[in-house]
Amino acid sequence: MDKIQIRGGRKLFGEVNISGAKNAALPLIASSILVNGKVCISNVPDLMDITSIKALLKDLGAGCEHHQDRLEIDGSSIHKIEAEYDLVRKMRASILVLGPLVARFGHAKVSLPGGCAIGARPVNMHLTGLEALGATISIEHGYIEAKAEQLKGAEICFDMPTVTGTENLMMAATLAKGTTVLRNAAREPEIVALAHALNRMGATVTGAGTAIITIQGVPALYGTDIHIIPDRIETGTFMVAAAATRGDVRIKGCKPDDIRATINKLRAAGAAIHTTDDTIHVKGSAPIKSVDIKTMPYPGFPTDMQAQFMALMTVASGSSMIHESIFENRFIHANELLRMGADISITNGNIAHVRGVKKLQGAPVMASDLRASASLVIAGLVAEGETTIARVYHMDRGYEAIEKKFSLLGADIKRIK
Ligand code: EPZ
Repeated sequence: MDKIQIRGGRKLFGEVNISGAKNAALPLIASSILVNGKVCISNVPDLMDITSIKALLKDLGAGCEHHQDRLEIDGSSIHKIEAEYDLVRKMRASILVLGPLVARFGHAKVSLPGGCAIGARPVNMHLTGLEALGATISIEHGYIEAKAEQLKGAEICFDMPTVTGTENLMMAATLAKGTTVLRNAAREPEIVALAHALNRMGATVTGAGTAIITIQGVPALYGTDIHIIPDRIETGTFMVAAAATRGDVRIKGCKPDDIRATINKLRAAGAAIHTTDDTIHVKGSAPIKSVDIKTMPYPGFPTDMQAQFMALMTVASGSSMIHESIFENRFIHANELLRMGADISITNGNIAHVRGVKKLQGAPVMASDLRASASLVIAGLVAEGETTIARVYHMDRGYEAIEKKFSLLGADIKRIK
């Protein structure tokens, strides 16, 4: 397994270009199942998760032509409605094929996605929503089976905002008979991007980006071209790294409006941040001030930025409180940061108290999930000495060529095969 080796202490300088968003690409690729034709997607990031969902769609019989960042999916040749365990276990977001399959083919069998390091990751809201649309759901031998002659529009109210739950049901409702209303829907930019793509395919989705989304069902959807939006979490990751190393970095090809909560907190921590409509210029400064954060559904502070921000707070000038309110076990990176000399204590499972220290020390550490690995890279960039990160396959799932991008900014970072 590959490792990443970093020698810390260098400031980051220069420009970095942001790739297409993983969490926009995955539902958009799944939505091609709804179409008896070709969907052409551009600005697709080169990530393990994209490879995984492509393998899944190919296994269902879809045509898949991938050249550089352009992916063409032909849903007209899909002949299978079962998403097998060994494909789904590689990536939980495979659950996103469930809604489209049952909407277009009236039948779907998808392996129950297991939990992961950050939590149990249940899909109960996905299934309750599909039942509301008229599907019969059974769970046997680790598989979800959904059947419906014809989905019918319904009122669905989520107990709490769920990103992929909103996406799954929005996709399913496009081919339901009648009107569906999703209440307490997730409001992430990726939801807005998916609704825009579905409408280009002939759907009628309104209200995406607000807590109430309305979908008028249509008989069929048609092929179209889609351009993936920039990855707001990759953007935030480079912003935090620039601030942590007290560097001077221009982040290009991003959408500042999608990452405002992180910009706000980084300014409170003392970073100078200037934005245009597609660039963010971050100048770090000493000392880094401690600020409290609480992760919330969009537009609140993103849970996917919590680990990266914790790394920054470990070398801040005071003490901060980090409240993870979305996932039940998303502090695993704290144990590795402690091994680098950080001063963190966790109370009642979801609040971390971080007391800033002068310096982290480089150490051999281990990534546990996608964003934890980014947190360890940031810590390695500011630590004294050498840090080696194991299990970087977690990082490869969601960050395109991350060590290349960081070395272009002046970091002493390399991948060891
Ligand atoms: C999406 O996961 C993202 N993944 C995650 O990004 C992100 O952390 C998460 O949203 C929150 O923003 C993709 O978009 C592919 P949720 P998702 O359903 O949809 C509970 C990354 O790093 N819940 O919004 O699985 C759930 O346990 C990944 O790129 C239920 O209880 O998250 C959690 O506590 C990690 N029942 C909360 O809701 C359900 O049926 C929010 O989860 C569904 C969710």
